[in-house]
Amino acid sequence: MKTFSIANPGGKRYPHSWTAEARRGVDRRVEEQVAEGFEEKVEEKVEEQFYSVTQITSLIRNLLEGEFSGITVEGEISNFRPSSTGHLYFSLKDEQSVLSVVMFKNRIFVSPMCQYSCENGMPNNWHLVHLGSRAVGGAGLVIAEATAVSPEGRISPMDCGIWSDEQSEAFTSITRFIEAQGAVPGIQIGHAGRKASTDAPWRGGRPLTEKENGWQPIAPSPIAFDKRYPTPREMTEADLERVVAEFAAAAERSLSAGFKVLELHTAHGYLMHQFLSPISNHRKDRWGGTSENRQSFPLRVTKAVRKVWPENLPLFVRISCTDWVENGWDLSQSIDFSRRIKALGVDFIDCSSGGTVPDARIPAGPGFQAVFSAAIRKAVGIETGAVGLITAPAQAEQVLVTEQADAVLLGREFLRSPFWPMTAAAELGVDIKWPDQYQRGKPDQKIQ
Ligand SMILES: Cc1cc2nc3c(=O)[nH]c(=O)nc-3n(C[C@H](O)[C@H](O)[C@H](O)COP(=O)(O)O)c2cc1C
Repeated sequence: MKTFSIANPGGKRYPHSWTAEARRGVDRRVEEQVAEGFEEKVEEKVEEQFYSVTQITSLIRNLLEGEFSGITVEGEISNFRPSSTGHLYFSLKDEQSVLSVVMFKNRIFVSPMCQYSCENGMPNNWHLVHLGSRAVGGAGLVIAEATAVSPEGRISPMDCGIWSDEQSEAFTSITRFIEAQGAVPGIQIGHAGRKASTDAPWRGGRPLTEKENGWQPIAPSPIAFDKRYPTPREMTEADLERVVAEFAAAAERSLSAGFKVLELHTAHGYLMHQFLSPISNHRKDRWGGTSENRQSFPLRVTKAVRKVWPENLPLFVRISCTDWVENGWDLSQSIDFSRRIKALGVDFIDCSSGGTVPDARIPAGPGFQAVFSAAIRKAVGIETGAVGLITAPAQAEQVLVTEQADAVLLGREFLRSPFWPMTAAAELGVDIKWPDQYQRGKPDQKIQ
């Protein structure tokens, strides 16, 4: 009888961290005592080819049931946990999809989050450190906040913008830094429509008057978001043309800035969502009325952006899958819209919800929007992301294992834990590379 351990069975030949983890998973079971020769036999077999943890488990099981039958193994064979953890740390590898061209090292994405920290739309050191530290923390994709395509499209005067070459240039050091950490730099571009010209949330987020550096917002229809908000000016045909061109120009500038993923903000009650929803779009012309008509402006923008955004770079669209109100925008319309944008060359739907009205009753709870992602993924056959109150590693893993989404996006959890992908890996028992500079902080490092 001897202690069973597999010391480096072809270790360096395991192609990625998951199989390396499989090996470590077997290592962890060293307490099990097995017969002389068993370890060598396993090693010999493992040398023959690459094994997943499931294959190693069944190999060990076969040996125990076959030529090594009768040996005593302390503990249950089921302790050989054929680990299905680690989906978070697979890269997206659908051969059919452009998502395989831009290699995300994992499926943990930083959800775009406004920082209200710019002057004249210029990103600065805050954005470098905020986005950069999430890249250091191991996220596969870091998406910069809703970045305005024009000054009037800003949610607040402190929003980031990408309507000038100067802004695009200012983003380049940020994208370079993100990429240097092995993460993909992404940007969300948007226009706030009737929800523009408000103050930072930590100052109450109220609408600003022109005297307070605010401006009159534009929207599909002259309907205020709520009674505190000003009535927006209804967009003319010329406005529509201009905004389409602004989105396309912002996409081109995002490319020059070094972003590799572009996300169109078509959610949360901002301009594009305002066109989709019958609550905010009362137009009588071709841009309003039926669901199909209400979709035409966002479709027009998507088409114009896809034309300038390179085919080999992913285009994401974030939608609100429901307004959470009766007779509003809903899941079936979201599925229909997703089919149409897929046909236009959109690669990924980022599935959020809400934002059209201030008083919607939203049944928020852990992972509450993942059902929308699952429905669109299945109905449309497109890659999707789940977002919303995903906080725990096992919960995030479950979203992927149960095929509700192809990636998870985390927002507030990343504000609390910039290094979430690194700590979550440890919790899930997955071995991932830490930045060289931080190696000595890795939980399994010896204290020196
Ligand atoms: C501070 C903050 C800023 C946000 N800004 C944006 C934004 O710019 N664009 C966007 O689509 N969503 C924005 N969101 C929503 C998040 O991206 C995310 O969808 C939401 O917080 C739910 O995910 P969570 O529960 O993981 O935080 C923001 C959320 C927070 C907390």
